[in-house]
Amino acid sequence: MRIPDEDPTEALKRSWDQNADAWTAIVRRGQIPSRSAGTDRAIVDAVTRLDPRRVVDVGCGEGWLVRRLVDELGCDVAGVDGSAALIASAKAAHEDGNYSVLSYETLSSQPDKLQGPYDVAICNFALFGRELTPILSTLRDCLSPGGSVLIQTLHPCFSRGSNNYADGWREESFSSFAHGDWEPMPWYFRTLESWHLEIQAAGLRLSACHEPSHAEIREPLSLILNCIPA
Ligand SMILES: C[S@@+](CC[C@H](N)C(=O)[O-])C[C@H]1O[C@@H](n2cnc3c(N)ncnc32)[C@H](O)[C@@H]1O
Repeated sequence: MRIPDEDPTEALKRSWDQNADAWTAIVRRGQIPSRSAGTDRAIVDAVTRLDPRRVVDVGCGEGWLVRRLVDELGCDVAGVDGSAALIASAKAAHEDGNYSVLSYETLSSQPDKLQGPYDVAICNFALFGRELTPILSTLRDCLSPGGSVLIQTLHPCFSRGSNNYADGWREESFSSFAHGDWEPMPWYFRTLESWHLEIQAAGLRLSACHEPSHAEIREPLSLILNCIPA
């Protein structure tokens, strides 16, 4: 990908406001094949295994996981996201839900805004920037004793496409979706080794890892990392 003159981090954040309507539509219509094939169920099951009372969904988007966890687990779930448009969409679908517009950068400089402590802090396909240590450290600090930061992400070994297996900025064009007017999203690909280093740098350690698999293709759909304070 050609690195734009602008910091890709800003373009990444802005893309979510621009893509909010199209994203809300495909998520709610179940039009992301990997999600119906298993990644939605996998993150709900991973949270369920931790038996939490208080959860925060960081980068919650239009809020499907907040709604699902409230319905299935009956726990107290807060959703935060940097996109005002996506938080408006989440609130419209869940009027008594607890949602706030907060970027990772704001949370890292003003951690009180997270209103922890939480038993689980979830990042479900929501960590696409290059600098992850600040937000991961903030999430570590908002955990209650015994708490976890649960990350679901693209599996590094199965998402590099034709690119080298090396950290670097990539671009998601969303061209696989037939409908919607999409703004490309820069995202930072990181290797498994790089994920491990980010987690370590944030004062966390990997306590479990899971590779939800496609029932027919038998290849991982994603990677789930359960991180606990080191
Ligand atoms: C692929 S969407 C996933 C949304 C949701 N977690 C889900 O499972 O549908 C990525 C989300 O991360 C959020 N995000 C990305 N970078 C962010 C940042 N720096 N601060 C706050 N939110 C951010 C976006 O606004 C977007 O809602």
